[in-house]
Amino acid sequence: MRVLLEESAQRAIAYLEGLEDRSVAPSPEAVAKLVALDEPLPDGLTTAEAVLKQLDEIGSPATMAMAGSRFFGFIIGGALPVTLAANWLAGAWDQNSAFYNVTPATAQMEKVALGWLLDLFGLPSDCGGGFVTGATVANFTALAAARHAVLARAGWDVEAEGLIGAPPLTVVVGEEAHSTLFKALGLVGLGRKRVVRVPADRQGRMRADALPPLSGPTIVCAQAGNLHSGAYDPLAEICDWAHDAGAWVHVDGAFGLWAAAVPSLAHLTPGLTEADSWATDFHKWLNVPYDSGLALVRDRDALRAAMSITAEYLPTDSPVRNPFDFTPEVSRRARGVEVWAALRYLGRAGVIELIERTCRHARRFAAGLQEAGYEVLNDVALNQVAVTFGDAAMTTRTIAAIQDDGTCWCGPTVWQGRTAMRISVSSWATTDEDVERSLAAMVRIARETAGR
Ligand SMILES: Cc1ncc(COP(=O)(O)O)c(C=O)c1O
Repeated sequence: MRVLLEESAQRAIAYLEGLEDRSVAPSPEAVAKLVALDEPLPDGLTTAEAVLKQLDEIGSPATMAMAGSRFFGFIIGGALPVTLAANWLAGAWDQNSAFYNVTPATAQMEKVALGWLLDLFGLPSDCGGGFVTGATVANFTALAAARHAVLARAGWDVEAEGLIGAPPLTVVVGEEAHSTLFKALGLVGLGRKRVVRVPADRQGRMRADALPPLSGPTIVCAQAGNLHSGAYDPLAEICDWAHDAGAWVHVDGAFGLWAAAVPSLAHLTPGLTEADSWATDFHKWLNVPYDSGLALVRDRDALRAAMSITAEYLPTDSPVRNPFDFTPEVSRRARGVEVWAALRYLGRAGVIELIERTCRHARRFAAGLQEAGYEVLNDVALNQVAVTFGDAAMTTRTIAAIQDDGTCWCGPTVWQGRTAMRISVSSWATTDEDVERSLAAMVRIARETAGR
């Protein structure tokens, strides 16, 4: 075992150290070699060393360098070394982190991390929290709690009776809510389409002047951090309007919730802490390994009522916090350990510096691209940049050429009818030099593509 694990660590270290000098996207040749994995199920044992060798020799070259410093696609961080190390150790512990009494170390780390997070975000210390796989499932989890609470107020026990025959429940969303929010709404039985949509402004924010009148059980889904612009819905106005009508406000803050930890970004988040529930990711801006996100609910009992197994309508009291009372899963890996490690390592100042640094990198990208004559579509208030290189066809060709070049990687999008390239700076590893090198490559490739 020792030889195998040491070899695994050595291969992983060599992989990470090699990222600087390789193309961010895997080469077509490396991807083509993946066919070697298409073999029949072996009849018998293979040595563990041979399995590891195949994994590394075929798998490693065909990976996208998301762990590196110049991947700017989606909204993706790279794992901080301390969180990868924590992941390795927690993997060795192999704890099924459902019950405190069975896995006290990992349950306690999760509980401590939850307390630190509530402190960082300026939320009440008694909020409920579920460590889930990502923002999609965090939205799902928080919406299940919301569904419980608003229907309970209308005299309906949704966990026991389901939604058939339940009092009608109105769901309000912004025009630019993230696509995964609609998936979450479908999963909790509220329907992907059965929603009232509030029009958005040029930055993708819900328009405060277009909020509809509300009545009856209602859940309002707001957004902290639009994936194209980074913009925040007007959360203070939304919370006042919704709470006056007795509605529940849920905030999808997959990356945007992290601004709540940063005093210099406080102007973006007024009203954020007034909401009833929040969803966020750790694998985006906190830079922990996948898969890792958090559902937070002000009314801890509502979350527990929606998630616990033992008594849907009357959660059992326990002197300890059992993680499975707050998550859709029962058996689960100890993902809270990596979150604890990231926070213990960074501290408050480190989290603030990480967020501020990546926002500064995004501003530098936007300024450099504008200086070169390209149109940036959003106000770069956070870590997102949406840029065009001319018309849709030219922008699409330029993005493909940037991806092929391999210096960095950014993805395409269509936002408010415009084809654009999204640059999302979320990784701890990105340096000023990475930004300058990537910017130079983008401008050179855009000019070459236009000249062709
Ligand atoms: C605003 C928002 N919500 C939800 C998600 C989904 O997150 P995940 O892929 O972690 O489930 C994203 C992902 O980018 C997002 O930006």
